[in-house]
Amino acid sequence: MKRATLFLTLVLVFSLFAFGGIIDTIKARGYLVMGTNATFPPFEFVDAKNEVVGFDIDLARAVAKKLGVTLRVIDFAFDGLIPALQADKFDIIFAGMTITEKRKEVVLFSDPYFDAGQVIVVRKGYKHFDDVDELTNEKVAVQTGTTGDLMATEVPGIILTRFPHFTEALMELSLRRVNAVVIDSSTGEAYIKFNPNLEVGSPILSAESYGAAIKKGNEELLNFVNQVLKELKTSPYDALLDAWF
Ligand code: ARG
Repeated sequence: MKRATLFLTLVLVFSLFAFGGIIDTIKARGYLVMGTNATFPPFEFVDAKNEVVGFDIDLARAVAKKLGVTLRVIDFAFDGLIPALQADKFDIIFAGMTITEKRKEVVLFSDPYFDAGQVIVVRKGYKHFDDVDELTNEKVAVQTGTTGDLMATEVPGIILTRFPHFTEALMELSLRRVNAVVIDSSTGEAYIKFNPNLEVGSPILSAESYGAAIKKGNEELLNFVNQVLKELKTSPYDALLDAWF
């Protein structure tokens, strides 16, 4: 009898280790792994010191800090991020990734943390566009697998080239090999700051929100991330109101 009890206790202890949640796994490992594509300023880009920095990196670092672990950033092809998440190459994607119905079929998304939309960037002095449909017969560059790519792909007669990195798409534009780039508004603005020969040549053409992506089944991590986002969004003043009223 005693032996049986000991045996059962051991089985229980081992299965706890084996089936411990994702948060326990990350804590035991000592670091959180974030996947991104670092050609998307100011959300993620490589700085002069060759380090990946940006708004998304700071958000992920806040999550890691709250978990009591460090952050590891993996710079990956944008259209490979979701498949790599499914294959457990990262715990989380922070990549200025738009929450879409299609992506929601395969991953979990955190609460939205940033509102964005697509714009058309052109060389200064080139024509402007009121709508994406006006890109018919235009040479256009996008980053593969982005919402800008999806939007441009729908335009009949567009002459579209897809690039693995936004840096390449914008380089093509500067070199006059294409005449427009469809890109998220804040990132378009950030690139223009460094390329005075470029400008935004359209209004904002879509309403999108960014979310962190997490593998289905890891709801525990999702809830944790939403909690951290909520705390970051709450001002000290709101926290005082909450505490006293
Ligand atoms: N918001 C767009 C999308 O979800 C573009 C994101 C590109 N992000 C990046 N890190 N390159 O498709």
